[in-house]
Amino acid sequence: MTRLLVNGRRRVFRGPPFTRLIDVLREDLGLTGTKEGCGEGECGACTVLLDGEPVMSCLVPVCQVEGRRIETIEAAGSPERLSVVQQALLESGGAQCGICTPGMVMAAWSWVRSGGKADREAIRTALAGNLCRCTGYGHIVDAVAHAVREAARREKPRGRRPAGRRPKTTARRPKGRTR
Ligand code: FES
Ligand code: FES
Repeated sequence: MTRLLVNGRRRVFRGPPFTRLIDVLREDLGLTGTKEGCGEGECGACTVLLDGEPVMSCLVPVCQVEGRRIETIEAAGSPERLSVVQQALLESGGAQCGICTPGMVMAAWSWVRSGGKADREAIRTALAGNLCRCTGYGHIVDAVAHAVREAARREKPRGRRPAGRRPKTTARRPKGRTR
């Protein structure tokens, strides 16, 4: 039995301890907003936040997250109440498909919440683990920069994390891919 804290709710998973976190979220807890792309830690589509930091849930066994704070895209906003990142993506034309966007939002949300800068290169580095096969990333980066500025306008940043920090479970970018 694994005790979880997901989006502020205590949950219990009774299956095998090495079940992938993404499967527990989607299949056992019904949180289908988290998407599976590659299933191999390469694309970032499955990104969720673990104690506020982006991780790739396709690589994380559920036993490793017992008692830790997990946040999924369902906690990042709703159609009626978009988060600052979602609103910025919408306004900047940075929202992509339903597979890559949830992971992008989670990585960007972590960046904004932790006091990341509105610096384009720093944002590209922060989102380096999240791939979209269809875009040049320009609008996404613009949106995150806008979200940083908007969040700062609304409230003081809670902390700052070093520029260039990537998800703990890092994804490699395919050779030759530029963003
Ligand atoms: S589905 Fe997890 S990194 Fe691609
Ligand atoms: S992978 Fe989602 S739009 Fe490219």
